[in-house]
Amino acid sequence: MRPVIVAGNWKMNTTPSSAGDLARAIADATDGTDVQRVLFPPYVCLAQVRDALRGRGLEVGAQNLHEEAGGAYTGEISGQMLRELATWVIVGHSERRRDQAETDEIVGRKLRRACEAGLTSILCVGELLEARQAGKAEQVVEAQLRGALSGVADRAEGHDFAIAYEPVWAIGTGETATGADAARMAGVIRATLARLGLDRRADGGPVLYGGSVTSASIGEFLAEPALDGALVGGASLKVDEMAGIVAAAGLVAAARRGAEGLS
Ligand code: PGA
Repeated sequence: MRPVIVAGNWKMNTTPSSAGDLARAIADATDGTDVQRVLFPPYVCLAQVRDALRGRGLEVGAQNLHEEAGGAYTGEISGQMLRELATWVIVGHSERRRDQAETDEIVGRKLRRACEAGLTSILCVGELLEARQAGKAEQVVEAQLRGALSGVADRAEGHDFAIAYEPVWAIGTGETATGADAARMAGVIRATLARLGLDRRADGGPVLYGGSVTSASIGEFLAEPALDGALVGGASLKVDEMAGIVAAAGLVAAARRGAEGLS
């Protein structure tokens, strides 16, 4: 049974003195659920959020890591460093692909470093508007996966990465893909993983949707059995929004567990 995941990417928001309170408020508002909840604060807030969430059932992740394990890289943060503060990390977010010119090859190196450090990754993929309009969205996502996943091994147990389909035109714009579109792309993602020889991940690895998800739109995505949750940006800074999103996800998680019990 695949888990249902709600991940909140706080991006460059909150401060070390405010992040713990927000994390605690989200934990309180989303208590008592089977949904796997992960918050991704800025690096400088990781320790505060980890401390605030201790014993609360939520996990903490970083928004990025460096592709080398250590050394003379001023200002950078490695997977080994993060390991003491976090259990998850985002790799390949479109804002970093755009602003830091992260290529699929760099994203792949980061993913392998994260695996080495024992972190669970969310690998982000997704097409620009021009690619969607040109009918090339699936090709783009397949190429991103092929570029990032060469040399990544299949694993029997657990999931040390999830994939988030985040169409770039839907991020921070208030526009979303349709549930059907996102589900179709989840199918493309799983087929690509299988073609890359990652059969266990194709079957058992979570695929999330991201891009302007709110408590109002989450239902459309969770109605699709191909999708396993959401990577939430702006709405993850709002306690009420997170409460609504996790509540909706909790219904799906409970239904999956029920179906598992019956089978
Ligand atoms: P958004 O961001 O929900 O604000 O669109 C999503 C993301 O960047 O992961």
